[in-house]
Amino acid sequence: MANLDSLFTPGLVAAQQPQWPGGPDGAEVRAAVETLKKLPPLVFAGECDNLKARIAEAAEGKAFWLQGGDCAETFAAATADSIRNRIKTILQMAAVLQYFASLPVIKVGRMAGQFAKPRSNNDETRGDVTLPAYRGDAVNDIEFTEEARRPDPQRLVQVYNTSSATLNLVRAFTQGGFADLRQVHEWNKGFVSDPRFGARYEQMATELGRALDFMASAGVDPEAFKTVDFYSSHEALILEYEKALTRIDSRTDLPYDVSAHFVWIGERTRQLDGAHMDFAAKIQNPIGIKLGPKTTPEDALAMIAKLNPTNEPGRLTLITRMGAGLIREKLPPLVKAITESGAKVLWVCDPMHGNTYEAPSGYKTRKFEDVTDEVRGFFEVHKAQGTHPGGIHIELTGDDVTECVGGGEQISHEDLATRYETACDPRLNHSQSLELAFLVAEMLRDR
Ligand code: PEP
Ligand code: CO
Repeated sequence: MANLDSLFTPGLVAAQQPQWPGGPDGAEVRAAVETLKKLPPLVFAGECDNLKARIAEAAEGKAFWLQGGDCAETFAAATADSIRNRIKTILQMAAVLQYFASLPVIKVGRMAGQFAKPRSNNDETRGDVTLPAYRGDAVNDIEFTEEARRPDPQRLVQVYNTSSATLNLVRAFTQGGFADLRQVHEWNKGFVSDPRFGARYEQMATELGRALDFMASAGVDPEAFKTVDFYSSHEALILEYEKALTRIDSRTDLPYDVSAHFVWIGERTRQLDGAHMDFAAKIQNPIGIKLGPKTTPEDALAMIAKLNPTNEPGRLTLITRMGAGLIREKLPPLVKAITESGAKVLWVCDPMHGNTYEAPSGYKTRKFEDVTDEVRGFFEVHKAQGTHPGGIHIELTGDDVTECVGGGEQISHEDLATRYETACDPRLNHSQSLELAFLVAEMLRDR
């Protein structure tokens, strides 16, 4: 195995890392890293290249990016039902978008690796007890006890194993007939016949059905609908894990992070001279960067220069998360400067992370109407600038949870306690996700 130790610049500051027992070079971390380094890749470099080529198409307006999944995956929720429901939700959304936008949809799960979270505070205090904050199942356990909150590097090995099991099911579901477009159409029919969602969707679903019938009658091979490409993604946060899974690709002799097809750098770890940007600059995967409302055009251009100096198509995806109230003001100067620079990027809207607030009951929540308004603002800005609204990045689950308020089901602040299950941020439930897909489909149709 090639020696990758000299690939990454030593001594850089890595934000948001766990306080591992013994430190980042301690025996416990080293043991976990040694184990990970010997394990086979979770994805293949060629698949990352395929995704990069598809992102390049989306950046030119020839495809639409749909990325969705939990804020924080947990080991406990890596069950067949939970994984299947998430995949099913993404496939349903994709079918709606694809049909109404007449564009191929790139399906990407925030899945099979999304186990680590950045936090505002290192510690959490309840009453007079202060313990390390929960940083995701990759680091510690959410239960509020000293034992549970102790960072444990062996959890990184469990991240690998759980990601592997998840990906196995993803590959089985998406290659084995479950993803057949005709089947997905049948699932959507169940949703639109729910009286809470009104007749506007029913008409769209009927149209989709007609189109499928038409294709069948025109002799299109039904086998063509049977399998779909589905890619994995997560935030590249815990650098010991990501570096241990970085391998030299035998075809190209270049390093790829084989923990996922696509990784992104979060809003809190994208310091230009930090270890995360150095990591991202050194790997060949397609990369995302989250951009919040404080991002200046100069910041964005510097990040682009660092991560994509050759302006390789498909390499960079900019995931903006401004908040519904700010997107129309903060996005235009970024789009303008980057377009004028000639940089090739895919613009994606994350309408979740700028719209979080605390409900009176104390639950972290988001309004469905803010989520849709931010996406609408994203489309408006790109229309005005003549650029492509390339995709959406959504925290969602396939289950019937009550974490975000509003939508056709009209979940209220009082309803949040009914089924609030997220380990981190509030997710759209199955119905809200599909409702969003229908709304975005209309925006795409009018773009
Ligand atoms: C996230 O995607 O869960 C996240 C923490 O986002 P951001 O880095 O944009 O705050
Ligand atoms: Co989140």
